[in-house]
Amino acid sequence: MTKPLLKLSNLNKSFGALKATDDVSLTLLPGEIHALIGPNGAGKSTLIKQIAGGLRSNSGTVEFDGRDVTPLGTVARARAGLGRTFQISSLAMEYTVLQNAVLGALGQDGSVMRFFRPVMKNKALVDRAMSALVRVGLDGQAAKRTADLSHGQRRLLEVAVALTLEPKVFLMDEPMAGLGASGS
Ligand SMILES: Nc1ncnc2c1ncn2[C@@H]1O[C@H](COP(=O)(O)OP(=O)(O)OP(=O)(O)O)[C@@H](O)[C@H]1O
Ligand SMILES: [Mg+2]
Repeated sequence: MTKPLLKLSNLNKSFGALKATDDVSLTLLPGEIHALIGPNGAGKSTLIKQIAGGLRSNSGTVEFDGRDVTPLGTVARARAGLGRTFQISSLAMEYTVLQNAVLGALGQDGSVMRFFRPVMKNKALVDRAMSALVRVGLDGQAAKRTADLSHGQRRLLEVAVALTLEPKVFLMDEPMAGLGASGS
């Protein structure tokens, strides 16, 4: 039998009296795509945060790639191969598209910002960032300031940033939010 990549068992999260997630169990096999749907406030973002490590569950476990990652925080889970994008953008707007992707390739650790110039000379990192941009079709915009991208292009850049870490599982919170039919 194929081993699950991600296994959620009985996850719960309450905010005071409000139960945001209630005993959620789910198994994700390699190659599978799951969509989580529900109205505003249903608990979708809460569950994604519980899986990615940004929010500690009240109970339940998250196993990823055969390992119990429940005690781990976001950075450790991201490094283990759990990638995510955010419902609200986490891009550095004054940086270029390529610089944002390089930051992603570094593991999104804010403390590296002051070493930014030398980092841009790190060919392996820049190459990894560029190939993520190619994958989402943003390589032509690499030198552009992120603030000057269209909304749709920013969503694509967020995907590229997450892809730089070559995640095994990729979580997207509202990937289509704010995108009209024209994709702009
Ligand atoms: N940090 C928090 N503190 C208190 N309540 C919270 C917190 N985060 C979420 N909630 C509440 O938990 C419920 C679930 O919120 P969540 O953001 O997970 O929903 P969602 O399904 O992602 O909604 P949307 O479609 O609007 O993004 C909501 O009632 C929300 O107000
Ligand atoms: Mg949400």
